[in-house]
Amino acid sequence: MNYQNILSSTNNGITKITINRPNKLNALNRDTIQELHEAFDDANNSSDTKVIIITGSGEKAFVAGADISEFADFDVKQGGKLAAKGQELLFDFVEHLSTPVIAAINGFALGGGLELAMACHFRIASINAKMGLPEVSLGVIPGYGGTQRLPQLVGKGRAMEMVMTAGMIDANQALEYGLVNHVTSEDELIALAEKIAGKIMRNSSVAIKGAIKAINANYKDGVDGYKTEIKQFGKCFGTEDFKEGTTAFLEKRKADFPGK
Ligand code: COA
Repeated sequence: MNYQNILSSTNNGITKITINRPNKLNALNRDTIQELHEAFDDANNSSDTKVIIITGSGEKAFVAGADISEFADFDVKQGGKLAAKGQELLFDFVEHLSTPVIAAINGFALGGGLELAMACHFRIASINAKMGLPEVSLGVIPGYGGTQRLPQLVGKGRAMEMVMTAGMIDANQALEYGLVNHVTSEDELIALAEKIAGKIMRNSSVAIKGAIKAINANYKDGVDGYKTEIKQFGKCFGTEDFKEGTTAFLEKRKADFPGK
């Protein structure tokens, strides 16, 4: 696939998607959101991809937000549409992918950038990373799920403070808040993401898909997460992966999951 604003490559089961507008600190314009949608969709549907890593190009930014130049003159209707379309194409879309998605935050993750990282299944960061939702400093609120996912990850009080002050936190503070799972040097960020991806890939992709659905169910209004868990748990018993996993355990060997 030929992209203008992103790079995507697949090696050894890992698809690495890099947002590639370093001169604009990888800000998310409309075309970039569309291309990301296509790249995530392709990777999720490819049998070659077991884990997706998303990062930003350059040394400065993961993503410095939605592209402010694109919406500065929007009216109420256009503003609402911008948020709805973005959530549908990218943020909700990524959260509900059946392939694990790791955000490797390599610098500024602000506004839509932090919202994208939060839509991923989990996050790691390099020590130079800075995270925040600065939207109220522009007279707007987070519109790509930030008001919902930030309190889920860091708690209501911390989310309120971060949103109200429009301030940034550094990587270590994000680690303390539980916003990122690991912090490492800039040089080792992708290697760490790949190492974690390697651990994920040893397991049943079918079971992981069910686990993502069950965990996400806890955060959906009107959905009983326990019921979702029971359904997904039961489904595992009909899979080849379950037969292989349990047989391998009993035969005292490593499982070789067919992914079915
Ligand atoms: N939208 C559009 N362009 C952006 C952008 C965004 N969210 N963030 C950065 N850019 C552009 C800048 O306009 C600049 O472009 P130019 O060189 O053509 O003028 C380029 O990226 C470099 O940014 P610059 O501001 O010069 O870098 P800096 O190191 O001085 O500051 C930041 C870095 C991240 C603090 C600053 O760019 C910033 O505050 N960005 C906006 C963050 C934000 O409010 N995001 C939420 C949007 S809803």
